[in-house]
Amino acid sequence: MPMKSYKIGVIPGDGTGPEVVAEGLKVLRALAGRCGLAFEFKEIPLGGEAYLKKGILLPQDVIEALREMDAIYLGAIGHPDVKPGILEREVLLKLRFELDLYINLRPVSLYPGVQTPLRGKGPEHIDFLVVRENTEGLYAGGGAFFKKGTADEIAIQESVSTRKGVERCIRYAFELCRRRNKRKHLTLCGKTNVLVYESDLWYRVFQEVGSEYPDIETGYQHVDALCMWMIKNPESFDVIVTNNMFGDIITDVGAIIQGGLGIAAGGNINPEGTAMFEPIGGSAPKYTGLNKINPMAAIVAAQMMVDHVGEKEASAILLEAIKAVLKNDLKGLDAGKMGFTTKEVGDLVVKHIKE
Ligand code: IPM
Ligand code: MN
Repeated sequence: MPMKSYKIGVIPGDGTGPEVVAEGLKVLRALAGRCGLAFEFKEIPLGGEAYLKKGILLPQDVIEALREMDAIYLGAIGHPDVKPGILEREVLLKLRFELDLYINLRPVSLYPGVQTPLRGKGPEHIDFLVVRENTEGLYAGGGAFFKKGTADEIAIQESVSTRKGVERCIRYAFELCRRRNKRKHLTLCGKTNVLVYESDLWYRVFQEVGSEYPDIETGYQHVDALCMWMIKNPESFDVIVTNNMFGDIITDVGAIIQGGLGIAAGGNINPEGTAMFEPIGGSAPKYTGLNKINPMAAIVAAQMMVDHVGEKEASAILLEAIKAVLKNDLKGLDAGKMGFTTKEVGDLVVKHIKE
C-alpha cells in the first residue's frame, strides 16, 4: 500500500513563530516515521519581514496554492515595526476570509500537570470547546468615519451576520457536540438583551437548528455572564458556539484557564475545504530568537491538524506524548520559567513519540 501523504502549507511568520513551528515540524516528522505517514511541507514566507522587505502581504497565487493544501500550519503573524492592523487584516484575516475558514475551533482543556489560575479546579473541570464564527460579525470590517479628526467626529463600526453564515456555524457546533459525545450540551453565547438584531438572528437559528438535534441539550448565556461562569464553573461547559468578536474575547479567557498562551491552540477550519492550525499566542517579539518560548501550543496545533486530516491514531499518539511531557517534564508553562529551551521541549515530545 502506498504511504499516505499530506500536503501541508507552512507559514512560520513573525517573531517566535518560526521557532515554535520548527519544533512542530520536528514532532510531525517523528510522528510520520512512527505511523507510516508522510508530510510534504511547503514553506511560505508571509508576515512582517516579507512585507517590510518586499511589500508582500497575501498575493493571489499564494492563496490559490494554499487552497490546494490538505492543511496549513501557521506560527504567528505580527511585527513590532509594522503599524498594528495591517498584517492582521491583510494577512491573517484575509486568509480566513479568502479560504472561507468559517469555523475557529478553540479547545479549552487543562492537561494534567499544567497550572490553572482557578483555585480548586483541575483537568476534570476544564474541558470544553469553543466554536467561534470566523468570517463575519465585526470582523467583516464595514463602517465609516464622518468629520474625522474634528470635534464632531463620528465613527461607525458595523457588524454583519448573515443567515447562511450563522446557520453553517451553528450546525457545525451541533454536529461537533454530537461527535464529541461527552455531555452533549451546547451553549449559545450572545447578547440578546442589547444586540436585538444580530443576537436575535443567532438565537432563532440556534432554536431552529437545535430542533434537528433532540439528543443535544441546549443552553443560552449572555457573553458577559458567560465570562464569569467560565471562571466560576468551567465544568458547566461542553461546547460553546458564538460570533466572531465574542469568540475572540472568551477564548482568551479560555486560554488563561487552561494554562495560558504557552498551551492554547486553535484551528481555522473550512469543513468543506482546507484548514489552518495555529498556536494562539501571537508573535511574542521580545522572546524572538532566544530559544526560550514554549512551543507546546504549536505542537498542540500540530496535533489538531493531524486529527483534522483524519489520522486519528497518529493524533492520539501525539496527544499522549504531549500529555506525558506536560505532566512529567515541564514544571510550568511560563516562557523562560519552563526549565527547558524551546528545542528541548520539542525533543521531549519526539522522545515520547518514539517510545
Ligand atoms: C485571534 C487574534 C486575531 C483575532 C487578531 C490578531 C486579528 O486575536 O486569532 O484571536 O482577533 O481574531
Ligand atoms: Mn484573539
